[in-house]
Amino acid sequence: MHAHVGDQLIVESPTTGAAKRDGEIVGLHHDDGTPPYDVRWSDSDQVTLVFPGPDAHIHHIGHGPEGQPEATGHRVSAAAHRSARPFSDAVVMDLVRDATAAPSMHNAQPWRFRYFRRNRVFHLKADLRGSLPHTDPELRALHIGCGAALMNLRVAVAHEGRQAVTRLLPDPGDPMLLASLTLTGPLGEEDDPAALYPAVHTRHTSRYPFAETAIPDSVRTALVEAAHREKVSLAFPSGWHLGSVLDLIQEAETRNLTDADTAAELARFTRRADDARPATEGVPEHAFGPRRRTGKAPVRDFAGGRTVPGRPSADFESVPHLALLSTAHDRPEDWLRAGLAMERVLLRATLEGLATSFVTQALEWHELRWPLRDPTSGMAYVQMVLRLGYGRPGTRTPRRPVQDVLDVEP
Ligand SMILES: Cc1cc2nc3c(=O)[nH]c(=O)nc-3n(C[C@H](O)[C@H](O)[C@H](O)COP(=O)(O)O)c2cc1C
Repeated sequence: MHAHVGDQLIVESPTTGAAKRDGEIVGLHHDDGTPPYDVRWSDSDQVTLVFPGPDAHIHHIGHGPEGQPEATGHRVSAAAHRSARPFSDAVVMDLVRDATAAPSMHNAQPWRFRYFRRNRVFHLKADLRGSLPHTDPELRALHIGCGAALMNLRVAVAHEGRQAVTRLLPDPGDPMLLASLTLTGPLGEEDDPAALYPAVHTRHTSRYPFAETAIPDSVRTALVEAAHREKVSLAFPSGWHLGSVLDLIQEAETRNLTDADTAAELARFTRRADDARPATEGVPEHAFGPRRRTGKAPVRDFAGGRTVPGRPSADFESVPHLALLSTAHDRPEDWLRAGLAMERVLLRATLEGLATSFVTQALEWHELRWPLRDPTSGMAYVQMVLRLGYGRPGTRTPRRPVQDVLDVEP
């Protein structure tokens, strides 16, 4: 049995021969179109994984010269017609450009995309050239950055008016294939996650001081809900917990500044104004932000303690707004979900007028990560520490050209 995305799966009633159930194939798991399939059932609109039995057959939707579907039988869902319209290569490139606007540790951009025109599937793979063997030996931060890029891709696809089915780690034999995203039918009335699109290119990491202004409860609730949509928890530490998190970050930052391997990785991914290396990755000097003169807000010093000519000093906030993203388990799938949730939170926060930043130093030292959690809250594995506030937005940092991170296949 072979199928394309958009074909119809029909399951006959064994007794009467009448069609018992039918659905649109919205996802393939093998490039040659053999089962199993993701099927959106016409009676329930639910998508399930199906291993067709002997009572099932495929109703093919023919593919014309431009990839436009043609009906070859009598019963074709309207959704199959509309959803079979292919994206042009220019649109595919725009979508991947949107995906790569995501944050990644040290702007290492540890991702690579493939788009399969015929099946209308994106694959997101880890690119180990963007890994940080010393700072991120388990590839946890790599998965989080790729999860953020996947979220941006989902937002951009929805903005284009398409629905998509996302599968995390779709091939157990290839753990570096982090996700597949299959384009399915046209988007309905829902505005999630397309409404986040305006923030995709305006979100930047801001390493500036923020105002000592409270974040309203309604905004905090919206951010917590954004994380929950990806089954990830978001909490705002306060009181003793905030103090303890700040101490752990300070301890980690001190270790980072005196650890030769950490410093070497930082140097590999930071770019001085006169740097001769390509300016398509890493954190450029103009994004370092000012040196902290006073205040409790933690900041990673991308200058690694050296003096940057013309870099100003500034007073940072004394009670910073930190937010912890956490998951119940600590597997690659959880790291990807944490990345999806993180990007949702950052995009939502940007739309709410907040500047956003990261302070993940304590996550990078095994013995400092566990105590970050609030043991009284049921919080298990802390995956990200964000810093939010009202202040100057960050500046745009470079990305690799889309052609370097995207392959388009027939
Ligand atoms: C897993 C992860 C950890 C990060 N840790 C920090 C950090 O500790 N301090 C910081 O200033 N930025 C941190 N960043 C932000 C990146 O440096 C930033 O995303 C990258 O330089 C690209 O810039 P942009 O976010 O402005 O697009 C982190 C990002 C990710 C995804």
